[in-house]
Amino acid sequence: MAIRKIVELGDETLRKVCKKQEKFDSRLHQLLDDMAATMYDAQGVGLAAPQVGILRRVVVIDVSEERDELFELINPVIVETSGSQCGREGCLSLPGRQAVVTRPDRVVVQAQDRNGEWYELETEGFFARAVCHELDHLDGKLYIDVMDRELTVAEIQGHIPEDDAE
Ligand code: NI
Repeated sequence: MAIRKIVELGDETLRKVCKKQEKFDSRLHQLLDDMAATMYDAQGVGLAAPQVGILRRVVVIDVSEERDELFELINPVIVETSGSQCGREGCLSLPGRQAVVTRPDRVVVQAQDRNGEWYELETEGFFARAVCHELDHLDGKLYIDVMDRELTVAEIQGHIPEDDAE
């Protein structure tokens, strides 16, 4: 496993639409292992392949506190959403910044695992938020495109009223 470099805002890789992952081979497994290592190293809750310069529809997410519930989503598709939540969101490609973003409260996503097997995942709350955020990356979208408002430095460090709504 290797830590890969995370590209930041301004790099055009982040604005490209990613291609479908066709091969479920050792190269994909290496990418997934590296993406997880990179996400954990950066203390993130999710990472999309374009963030490490790879234009493929591949995402890793772990929203658990213990950092031991890794989900690998290849060619993911959101098939159902409901409700709405308003809360803070950041991105490893936009270090030091946060915004208030409205997302669905519940998201059902279908994806392939590292061996190409399709599975379905029902997510709620912060997990659902992470799914929406990471899948947006695969289409060149960032949270700044859909945010309600950007937080100030003081708000990032403290409490914001929107947190109460979650
Ligand atoms: Ni992000």
